[in-house]
Amino acid sequence: MMVSELMKVEDDKARASLPEAIVRYIESVRSCEHGESYLIAVLHKVQEHFGYLDMRQMSAVSQLMQIPSAKVTGVASFYHFFTFVPRGKHKLAICLGTACFVKGAGQVLDKIKELLRVDVGHTTKDQLFSLDVARCVGACALAPVLIVDEKVYANVKPDDVARILEEYGFAAKK
Ligand code: FES
Repeated sequence: MMVSELMKVEDDKARASLPEAIVRYIESVRSCEHGESYLIAVLHKVQEHFGYLDMRQMSAVSQLMQIPSAKVTGVASFYHFFTFVPRGKHKLAICLGTACFVKGAGQVLDKIKELLRVDVGHTTKDQLFSLDVARCVGACALAPVLIVDEKVYANVKPDDVARILEEYGFAAKK
């Protein structure tokens, strides 16, 4: 097989690993003068679609953008907003900044962990929730603050947690 044929096979394989819209986006930026500078934007789109990054997707990005795979994985590992583990449908982030912590965010976190049986940095078995902590999110007057996806919940008490989670499909085991 000639090199050009081999590259086409690899390209086709890479295309099949990514959604068409992302392939099209890569094709549009690849011809730009500094195509490599779009790597983070591309990885964002991949993570947005799949919920996380895995080796198959990253090597597809490497192939289609013609960037060494070590560089793609290096960039993905460097930035904390990229994750290599599947994330839940809904992202919970409890603020553990000083104001929130002083007002009881630790107890709210304990309640979330107890109800969902999940640790910080992990996803529930049903893939419904991922749990993370945040540093001050700039809403100290509302402390303690819980963020679910884009929505901010203020003055959250441990007793509020079940009700909030129910809005996102959590069903408490009776
Ligand atoms: S400490 Fe939580 S919002 Fe500032």
